[in-house]
Order: sequence, then C-alpha cells, then structure tokens
Amino acid sequence: MKEKDDTHKQQQLPAMRAASRFGGKVSLLDVALVLLLVSLGFVLGLTSSNVMFLRSFYSSALMPPSPKSLLLSSTTTTARATSKTPPPVYPSSLPPGNNHPQQRRQPTAMHNMTDDELFWRASMAPKLRGRRPPGGAPKKVAFMFLVRGDLPLRPLWEKFFAGQRAELYSIYVHAHPSYSFAGSPDSIFYGRYIPSKATKWGDASLVDAERRLLANALLDVDNERFALLSEACIPVYNFTTVYGYLTGANTSFVDSYENGGSRSRYRDFFAGRNITLAKWRKGAQWFEMDRALALEVAADNELCIPAFRDFCVGRQECLIDEHYLPTLVSLLGWGRRNANRTLTYADWKRPVNRHPHTHTAEEVTEKLIGEIRADKSCSYNGARSGAICNLFARKFTPDTLQPLLRLASKVMAFG
Ligand SMILES: *[C@@H]1O[C@H](CO)[C@@H](O)[C@H](O)[C@H]1NC(C)=O
Ligand SMILES: *[C@@H]1O[C@H](CO)[C@@H](O)[C@H](O)[C@H]1NC(C)=O
Ligand SMILES: *[C@@H]1O[C@H](CO)[C@@H](O)[C@H](O)[C@H]1NC(C)=O
Ligand SMILES: *[C@@H]1O[C@H](CO)[C@@H](O)[C@H](O)[C@H]1NC(C)=O
Ligand SMILES: *[C@@H]1O[C@H](CO)[C@@H](O)[C@H](O)[C@H]1NC(C)=O
Repeated sequence: MKEKDDTHKQQQLPAMRAASRFGGKVSLLDVALVLLLVSLGFVLGLTSSNVMFLRSFYSSALMPPSPKSLLLSSTTTTARATSKTPPPVYPSSLPPGNNHPQQRRQPTAMHNMTDDELFWRASMAPKLRGRRPPGGAPKKVAFMFLVRGDLPLRPLWEKFFAGQRAELYSIYVHAHPSYSFAGSPDSIFYGRYIPSKATKWGDASLVDAERRLLANALLDVDNERFALLSEACIPVYNFTTVYGYLTGANTSFVDSYENGGSRSRYRDFFAGRNITLAKWRKGAQWFEMDRALALEVAADNELCIPAFRDFCVGRQECLIDEHYLPTLVSLLGWGRRNANRTLTYADWKRPVNRHPHTHTAEEVTEKLIGEIRADKSCSYNGARSGAICNLFARKFTPDTLQPLLRLASKVMAFG
C-alpha cells in the first residue's frame, strides 16, 4: 500500500514539470519559449475570450523591469511569543507603487469557456510563472466568494477594499447561475461573477465550484494567493495586514487533521481507489493557498476527484466538503508546505448539529471581534507561535452588517 501511495507523487502533470523547469531566472530562451507557447495558443484557436488572459500575461511578463524592489522591506513583529523561538514576522506594509486606487478597473470575469476549456487553460497558466521581472507587477491576492446569490455583507467587504490599489487583489464570485448582480456598477463586485453551475451543500458540485473559482483565478498570472470565502464570512483585519500575511507566507493554509473523528469517516470504498486510511484527512472547507497548490487542485483529474465524485453518486450527503481537499494535499505529499490550519475562525464552542455557531446581530460586539483577533497562538513561516490565527471569521447572519460596519474602523482598523 505504501509503495502505491508513493507512486502518486510521481504523477505530476507535464505542465507542472515544465513549470518547475521554468521556475528559475528569466532568460531570453525562456521568453522565446513563452512567446512560442502563446502563439501556439492562437493557432489552437484561442480567440476573444483569451484576450484578458493574454493582456495580463503581456503586462506582467513583458513589462520593462523597473528599479523598484518587489520585496517588502519594512517588517514588524506582531506579538509576544512566549516560547524561546523568535516571534513570526510578516510584512505590515503594501508593496511600493503609485497611490491611485482603482485606476485600473478589472476586466469582467465573465467568459464563454466551457469547464473543459477553462481547466485546460488554467493548467497552461502556470507555465508563465516566474516570468514576472523584478519590479514588475506585485503579487495579487484572489478573494474567491462561493455564495448562493447575494452577498449580504458586501458593504463590509467594500469598506475593506476601499482605497486599495486594484493591482493588489482580484475578486471572483461563484453564485447560482440564475443570479444576476443587483449592486451598482461602481461596486468592486460588479463584473466579478464567473460562469457557474448550481451547487448543493455536501455534494461533489460544491468542490467543482471551488475548483472552478481556482481555475478562473489562475488565469490571471499575477494572482499568487487564493482565499475561499462565503457570504457569511467577514474580514477581521484590514487589507494591509491580510495582504502582508498572505503574500509573505511560505505555506498554504488548508485545514487538515487526522484523528479518531476523521478516521471514523473513512470508507473502504476509498481503499479500492488508492486512497488509504493513512492518507485520509479531515478539515474545514475554507482554505487559503498559494499558486502551486491552487494549480494542483485545478489540475486534479485523476488523483482524488474521481474517487470522491463516484463516492458521492446517489448519496444524500457525502464526505466531500470536509475531506476532499485535505486528503488531496496529503496524497500530493505536500508536507510542510501546508500549515494544516485554516485562517477562518469558526465558533466550535457551541456547535449546533455538528455545525459551528452562527453569529447574529446582538452578538457582534467589540469583545467578540477583539477575541477573534486576539488569538495569536499560531505558527507562521517556521516560527512556532505568536502569529495571528484568524484573518477571517465565519457564520455571520445578514443582520450583522450594521453592527459590523460600526465596529470596522474602531476594532478592525479599516473604514
Ligand atoms: C458570449 O457569447 C455570446 C453569444 O455568442 C456573446 O454575445 C457574448 O458577448 C459572449 N460573452 C463573453 C463574455 O464573451
Ligand atoms: C491595519 O491594521 C494594523 C493592525 O492590525 C494597524 O497597525 C495598521 O495601522 C492598519 N493599517 C491601516 C492602513 O489602517
Ligand atoms: C492505483 O495505483 C496504481 C499504481 O499507480 C495504478 O496502476 C492503478 O490504476 C490505480 N488504481 C486506481 C483505481 O486508480
Ligand atoms: C502538515 O501535516 C503533514 C502531515 O499530514 C506534515 O507532514 C506537515 O509537516 C505538517 N505541516 C506543518 C507546517 O507542520
Ligand atoms: C518557511 O520559512 C521558514 C523561515 O525561513 C523556514 O524555517 C521554513 O522551513 C520555510 N518553510 C517552507 C515550507 O519552505
């Protein structure tokens, strides 16, 4: 069984192998290869819908280098670590750039690609990694919202993003296909809905939607970090802190654990599909990951997704949302490149039907948000404790909007 598992690690996609081969310095040969690749794309008939992808490629890969350093130099320590190891450090300022927020409106996220085309194209996108010259476009964080329809807490998120440079983040929303955005064209969420399919909680369609979000976000070569959020999620830190934390991290944050509770959900069905009990993991669905892992998830055609899809057929509730991603990461042998924890707080102190507690308007106080922010017992980039644990929090009802807006500037340092 062990030998079989190890063979999985060898099953890297050709695209991945090429990507790591291309991972080094930009050479003339590399640029020529990339150009060849892009022209091939044209020959293969990638037309109008490819324009956005190409535009972002050209602007990031072929922009003349500027003397500006991409690296953030100003860093601060954030908390007192009680252990002997030094406290973790993450950048607390944004990369240098001009201060004209929103000067570049993002092109629409809508397109006419089928899922097959989309995933194919997403698996090509990483070949362009490492093309970014020093001083070129800064890293972007992709905020990916998996929602039913409306985002009741949208004004809070708009406040969170207000005044931030458009080149530092991108937004993608997967809603029910029948939903059409009711907000103003001035909203940063306008035009950010991606082609979607109906999802059902606890069903394989949910993971398909997550992978669809990732594939869309991968098409923008500047996206380096990918956070999954729901309509009930809130930010508990400001944009500067979230951006610095994510772009400064050398791990992904996919919740993953192995204990009696996770093992009891294992089914022999998976043994027949090369997913052993030793590789089986459990974890909350709300992830944050880097580009390398995002690519693996979008490209997972064989390793993990078929087994889960088949298992879910005809089942009311299958194990997919809590097991697919952590198990995939374990099968990939990702090791220390995953922090094995989520950055999204949930209140498990008073669970209801195996779900975390839902926060209502009267519970939203300075104390609550303060407590969520105060948890700094987490490891980060090798430091064993002292780092912020929760950048986001979940399960907030629509009526929490007003109290949250009132607390934003006082407690969360934005707005
Ligand atoms: C999708 O296709 C339709 C009809 O072919 C076209 O009218 C529409 O503009 C296309 N949308 C995008 C985003 O390309
Ligand atoms: C963001 O929040 C941090 C603390 O979390 C604070 O030190 C910083 O001043 C805030 N930044 C802005 C631009 O408000
Ligand atoms: C399990 O792995 C082995 C070795 O890689 C492979 O030959 C076999 O087809 C796999 N079985 C399934 C069901 O994926
Ligand atoms: C995450 O868990 C895996 C085992 O599943 C382990 O190998 C790895 O070291 C852990 N990551 C960190 C950062 O501790
Ligand atoms: C992340 O950075 C820390 C500090 O430099 C280092 O100890 C750790 O091994 C790195 N982790 C990974 C997965 O590269």
